[in-house]
Amino acid sequence: MNIDLTNIIEKGEQYIVQAVFQDEAHNYELARQAYMAAVDYFIHATKYGTMKEELKQHIHVNVEKYMKRAEEIKRMMENETLIDDTMDYANLKDKINNQDIEESTYDENLIQNTIVTDSKVTFDDVIGLAFAKTVLLETVILPAKYPKLFQDKCKSSTSVLLYGSVGIGKTYLATSIANECKIKFISLNAWELQSKFIAEPEKLIRKIFELAHQQQPSILFIDDIDSLSKQNTDTDDDRFQRIKTEFLIQIENIEKGNTNTFLIATSTKPFELDATIQRKFEKRIYIPLPDINERVAMLKKIFDSNINHTINENEWIELAEKTENYSPADITVICHEAVMAPIRQLVSATHFKQTANPESNGPPQLWFICSSDDADAKVINLNAVKSNELYIPPVTMSDMLTALDKVKPTTTQNDLIEYQQFSKDNS
Ligand SMILES: Nc1ncnc2c1ncn2[C@@H]1O[C@H](COP(=O)(O)OP(=O)(O)O)[C@@H](O)[C@H]1O
Ligand SMILES: [Mg+2]
Repeated sequence: MNIDLTNIIEKGEQYIVQAVFQDEAHNYELARQAYMAAVDYFIHATKYGTMKEELKQHIHVNVEKYMKRAEEIKRMMENETLIDDTMDYANLKDKINNQDIEESTYDENLIQNTIVTDSKVTFDDVIGLAFAKTVLLETVILPAKYPKLFQDKCKSSTSVLLYGSVGIGKTYLATSIANECKIKFISLNAWELQSKFIAEPEKLIRKIFELAHQQQPSILFIDDIDSLSKQNTDTDDDRFQRIKTEFLIQIENIEKGNTNTFLIATSTKPFELDATIQRKFEKRIYIPLPDINERVAMLKKIFDSNINHTINENEWIELAEKTENYSPADITVICHEAVMAPIRQLVSATHFKQTANPESNGPPQLWFICSSDDADAKVINLNAVKSNELYIPPVTMSDMLTALDKVKPTTTQNDLIEYQQFSKDNS
């Protein structure tokens, strides 16, 4: 599960350069796609790579800004309103580098941010994973939603561990529960608890668990619990131990307290979890790699209606066959890499020509890339073309195959054997 972190961060940075370039040139759709591609790479790096806390924080701040800008562009394009001035990238970079975070506000903000009120992901959005969904329905969703149904019956599970490879959909599935239950969903990432910006980590943990109790019925979701278990070399040993102890005390309180608070956590390496933490979970659910039909569905979902492409049904199946052992996150990265192919063509094009718009909406004529010997060719570059008059070439099967070649599956055969063994030992 080692990933080439430098390479992934560099990729993200390349996309940002592209995004800012397109943003400044008012090619907003291209800019939006590049921002989102960059965000994907950065998130991939922070989730699946081992890095210093400072770098993680730094990337998270950046990611938020890029996502905001991409959303802003999308909203404005949908409303067809005038797009705000280009994001001030240089200024943003300075701000990030000189950020001065006050510790007390950091603690308060973290607590505020744990409450999820707007999860848009539904169970139906989560492709496959029928077994995991059934278990979650019976052990968390129904008891949380209808506590009366479960009174006097055998005690329902209160803590569930979702485990499986990186990028497999553990967080995605857990987030969908927030939407399904419509009860308070308190979510935090275990590594956040260890941030050096937190002034009083134990107090913060107590407050978060208290919040879950006060808001019951509630779900407390702790993502990437591995980081609370493994000794992180960058972390101050004593502080780490205190955080872990407080965390265990609080979990125990949930178990003893007969409260209507459900605990869901995710782990990528459950076999490396501290035995005390491992025992705290009554149910352990393995999240497997997607099968061929699920991969077809994922590929199509990413492309849905707003990406222009020429890929046909047989080609989707061929791509799904070729992506065996790829996680949903890997598949997303492949698709975003392929979506960038037409953008790269546009950026490097030196000749464009005006041709009738193949769509009925928009201006009657669009600028298409063409070869230098085309009779109508004009020697111009992308900067000279207005965003709404630009024809963006569709993504082709060949773009997908090139992208596939560049992205290797994150999950190794060895990982799969370890999960199999853990599932066997814990069934
Ligand atoms: N079952 C799924 N159906 C549809 N998309 C999925 C599914 N699982 C994962 N994804 C996509 O892959 C991304 C990465 O999944 P995530 O839940 O973050 O992985 P992890 O297991 O590391 O927590 C999600 O944001 C989502 O876009
Ligand atoms: Mg996750």
